[in-house]
Amino acid sequence: SESKVRDQLNRPMTDLRISVTDRCNFRCTYCMPKEIFGDDYAFLPKSELLTFEELERLANIFAQLGVKKIRLTGGEPLMRSNLHLLIEKLTTIEGIKDIALTTNGVLLKKYAKKLKQAGLLRINVSLDALDEKLFGLINGRGIQPSVPLEGIQIAKNLGFEVKVNMVVEKGVNESEILPMAALFKERQIPLRFIEFMDVGNDNSWSFKKVMTKQEILQVLQQKYDLEPVEFDYFGEVAKKFRYKGTNIQVGFITSVSESFCSTCTRARLSSDGKFYTCLFASNGFDLKSLIRSGATDDELRNEIINVWENRKDRYSDERTEQTTKNRKKIDMSYIGG
Ligand code: GTP
Ligand code: 5AD
Ligand code: SF4
Ligand code: SF4
Repeated sequence: SESKVRDQLNRPMTDLRISVTDRCNFRCTYCMPKEIFGDDYAFLPKSELLTFEELERLANIFAQLGVKKIRLTGGEPLMRSNLHLLIEKLTTIEGIKDIALTTNGVLLKKYAKKLKQAGLLRINVSLDALDEKLFGLINGRGIQPSVPLEGIQIAKNLGFEVKVNMVVEKGVNESEILPMAALFKERQIPLRFIEFMDVGNDNSWSFKKVMTKQEILQVLQQKYDLEPVEFDYFGEVAKKFRYKGTNIQVGFITSVSESFCSTCTRARLSSDGKFYTCLFASNGFDLKSLIRSGATDDELRNEIINVWENRKDRYSDERTEQTTKNRKKIDMSYIGG
């Protein structure tokens, strides 16, 4: 059925990205650099996180307004205890057709089976390099690539639909483009190359560090014949190609070189219950306070409608050297990518 709300640019609200924790067991240089996210960093206390009951209630209301797809993120979502219990609740919501998880993969060995039993179908695993030393440096914790690789394999074997996300940062890991492509082609797992974005305030981003889709394609085409693949649905984020003569795909998430705001249908909920209408928003609408002051479902629904109907965000369409500097943004680990 047609979605029930539209924003100022006529975009429906069909996806909800829920950050379930702001904590992570990695310290990726581009997301939670350890100089800033150190031992004394003040993460949210548990009492500030939305409970599973609160999340279920909100997800229900979002579903009534057109949301069909829910993605669980973080931080590292598997750091939230008993995540499978939340998934169980979300699968019962009418209108939710797709529930997915974005994870660094380390905890899949421990939890993949429970997630499967809870009804989760899709998992995107982040992996930026196969070189042991480089991957250890990027993740800030010296974790070996074999750890997420094992998680990926376990998830595949359990029947999950798995994709791999690789953030490409110029001068850091472009040497990993071909090795990553070769490995995941062989394993028949879709790999998506993500253009390094200016999220948060601490990752010393600059245009010069962005490896664009065109540049990555050039590298891939040294070795492979690629052909474009059609979009699967309105507002799909990745631009996709397949290795000629196969059904194996590679994708590009081109937030910098070919922004996709005009079809952006994504609402975001931070772990402490703020509702954001853009990854690059400076402020969110505090749904948690509203819930905890006893708001009814109708009141919550009306506030969500109001926020979405006023939405005008198109940050990536308007990105310039100026906007990347003069704006207080939300940390990726807090808003959930
Ligand atoms: P699928 O449903 O499997 O296609 O997942 P997805 O690509 O929507 O989600 P995922 O969590 O795997 O995100 C991949 C990358 O896309 C991450 O770097 C996200 O930050 C980025 N991304 C997702 N949605 C948006 C968005 O609305 N705007 C921008 N700028 N980046 C986004
Ligand atoms: N630019 C692009 N992608 C990023 N991610 C985290 N920070 C950035 C950034 N600055 C990716 C993670 C994960 C996804 C949710 O977002 O690697 O795959
Ligand atoms: Fe953790 Fe993902 Fe951020 Fe890396 S990118 S620090 S794995 S939340
Ligand atoms: Fe959507 Fe904001 Fe990303 Fe544009 S920059 S696609 S509006 S989240």
